[in-house]
Amino acid sequence: MRASASASASTSATTTTTTTTTTNVQQFRVYRWDPDSGDEPKYKTYDVDTNDCGPMMLDVLFKIKDEQDQTLSFRRSCREGICGSCAMNINGRNGLACLTKVEKTEKGAQTIAPLPHMFVVRDLVVDMANFYAQYKSIEPFLKTKSDAPANGAERLQTKEDRAKLDGLYECILCACCSTSCPSYWWNSDKYLGPAVLLQAYRWIIDSRDEFTEERLANVNDAFKLYRCHTIMNCSKVCPKGLNPALKIAKIKQMVA
Ligand code: SF4
Ligand code: SF4
Ligand code: FES
Repeated sequence: MRASASASASTSATTTTTTTTTTNVQQFRVYRWDPDSGDEPKYKTYDVDTNDCGPMMLDVLFKIKDEQDQTLSFRRSCREGICGSCAMNINGRNGLACLTKVEKTEKGAQTIAPLPHMFVVRDLVVDMANFYAQYKSIEPFLKTKSDAPANGAERLQTKEDRAKLDGLYECILCACCSTSCPSYWWNSDKYLGPAVLLQAYRWIIDSRDEFTEERLANVNDAFKLYRCHTIMNCSKVCPKGLNPALKIAKIKQMVA
């Protein structure tokens, strides 16, 4: 970390005004890879005055892109922890760049990398195709066998049944949990991972859904479900404070 201060003063016959500007320059090591360049991936270090920047890591990335290197690629949309698109690995921990505060530290460069064990499309952008295909495979929508209620009425549920969806519906599918799970790293082609299993559970316990048995049968598989070894990385990193490991345990109880 490098910090400096500069001061300017103006004096008139009656008043004296002093303005002090303090900088706090931090170094950021950012993963860079352009597949069209033919070059190997590398980390590039940027100096950023964090006193002239918003407070979050996403603000740092925007500042680098705006002022130093327009080719830097990363996903973002909402800038407030809703869309899930700015998930990345920040100083060794998965999180949302828009919710991760910039450290003002003396410890040296801070590292920003793509989500671990994902194929990189470019820079901090990873290929989410497998993740979304797995999400699609659990049919994340209400499925019923009975006739729809008359006159276009909604399918109702009790307050108690609705409360069972708390801790589930808030998931923004950022994949921070799945990409911090060692089992998912090694078996992401077969293991559904914590995010998708949490979503599977969301529909399994929805009182309005009438395909509970079929949903349980679909995930009751040595790889899809039982690759979870309760390591708990997933629940430690969820930026929404959800607990996928607990929901996976509940699915295991239901299929047992
Ligand atoms: S609890 Fe299961 S899903 Fe979560 S990190 Fe561990 S193995 Fe992965
Ligand atoms: S459970 Fe949490 S970490 Fe996992 S995808 Fe959902 S919001 Fe992201
Ligand atoms: S930009 Fe939407 S969650 Fe970060």
